[in-house]
Formats: sequence, C-alpha cells, structure tokens
Amino acid sequence: MNFTVSPDHAQSCEKVALRICEIVRQKPNAKLGLATGSTPEPVYRRLAQLCKEGAVDFSHVRTVNLDEYWGLAPTHPQSYRYYMDQNLFNHINIDKANTYVADGLADPDRAAAALDEAVFAGGAPDFQLLGIGGNGHIAFNEAGERLSADSHVVALTQSTIDANARFFENAGQVPRKAITMGMKGILAAAEVWLLASGAAKQNAVRGLVEDGAVTTQNPATFLKLHQNAHILIDEALAKLVGLQGG
Ligand code: GLP
Repeated sequence: MNFTVSPDHAQSCEKVALRICEIVRQKPNAKLGLATGSTPEPVYRRLAQLCKEGAVDFSHVRTVNLDEYWGLAPTHPQSYRYYMDQNLFNHINIDKANTYVADGLADPDRAAAALDEAVFAGGAPDFQLLGIGGNGHIAFNEAGERLSADSHVVALTQSTIDANARFFENAGQVPRKAITMGMKGILAAAEVWLLASGAAKQNAVRGLVEDGAVTTQNPATFLKLHQNAHILIDEALAKLVGLQGG
C-alpha cells in the first residue's frame, strides 16, 4: 500500500483529481469507479473546474458507483444517484447514459447482479475512488464476521446509520439497507485510491498502517492485498495514526 500524507484534505483531493485526469487523457473511454460521501466532494469540484477549463474531456468516460441506498428513488436528495448528478455529472461533459449507479428501487438481488455486470462489462474499472467508514467499511461492505465477494444487498450497521444520519432529518430516515459493490469488484480495479480525513476515521486507518493484518472486522484492510492501492490522508490524521508526514 502506498501512503501519501498531504498538509490538508484539499491537497489529498487535488492529487486524486489530477490522477483521474491523467488516466482519462491516456484512455479517453476509461471506466472510473466512483464513491459518495463528504470525503470525495472536493475531488468532484476540482474535476468540474478542470473540465470547464478544457483540461479534461469526459465525453467517452464510463463510470460505475460503489453503492446505493435501497428504497430511495434516484430523485431523492439523499440517493447516491442524486448526489453524483449534483456533485459531478451535471458539471462535466459526461454522457449520463455512461454513468451507472445501482437502482435503489429495483428488486435488490437483481440490482446487485446488475451492479456486478456494470462493474465487469468490458473489463474492470481502470480506477476506483474510495472513502472509508469509521468502522473500516468500504462502499457498504460492513465490518463483521464475513465479507461478500460479489455485489449484494447489505443491512447497514447501526454505526453506519448513525454516521450517515447527518444527511437526513433524523436517523430514523436513513435507509436500513443498501446495494453495494462487493470486495471483488473493488479489488478488481487497476488502481484504488482511498481518501480519509478526520479523527472519526482514525481507528479504521490505524488498521491500514499498523501491520500486514487483513481482517473482515476492518474491510479496508483487504486493500493490502491490492498491488496498486493508494491511501491519501492529511497530516492531522497521519499524526493520530502514528504516520510521518512528507
Ligand atoms: C458511506 C459510503 C461510503 C463512504 C462512507 C464515508 O457509508 N457508502 O462509500 O466512504 O460513507 O463517508 P464520508 O466520506 O461522508 O465520511
């Protein structure tokens, strides 16, 4: 795993945005695996800006998102489809027909199977962007006794529901289930870039730094098995997990 410590989160995001541009310039029809949450928002803002400046052309790019809440319509302001449209797709020259976010209203098992199809059709993603949950979840692969290789329907843990309650009026409105890419889809990407910032992520990130252990209790540790995984954190978080800046 490659660790990069930046002075602040904005600079971590800048590095990721520039890497995405580089990939798209080299391969105009690249397939990008994308993530939601507050962590990657600055990446999307920067990509929108770079696209506007003509520095990158998304017209042939394909995207597939990690996950979607089950039961939310694409028009629901907290759905991940809505998030992607608002934060990125509406601001770049991508063809929305080439963007895939699981259907939160479809039969969940079918939606999961369709997500895996989108992940692997025409080859696995060239790039995968990730955030991380406080319990180490990536996408919605929750910490627990076992992880699923395939995309699947997942019951969210209470800690995830509580963490995401800030986006809803109250925790009671957070969907209890989600459709998520499985570990196989995430690890199949040619390169994986995980962004983390904030003290709430310190336990999860410490598990990445400490040793070579891989555990289902911290799903992000499976990235240790990937040959081209990048972890980008800011100095404040690096200090908390005992990693030197640089
Ligand atoms: C959700 C998403 C994850 C994301 C995580 C962290 O649970 N499914 O993909 O990484 O939240 O979100 P945030 O970046 O808002 O802390």
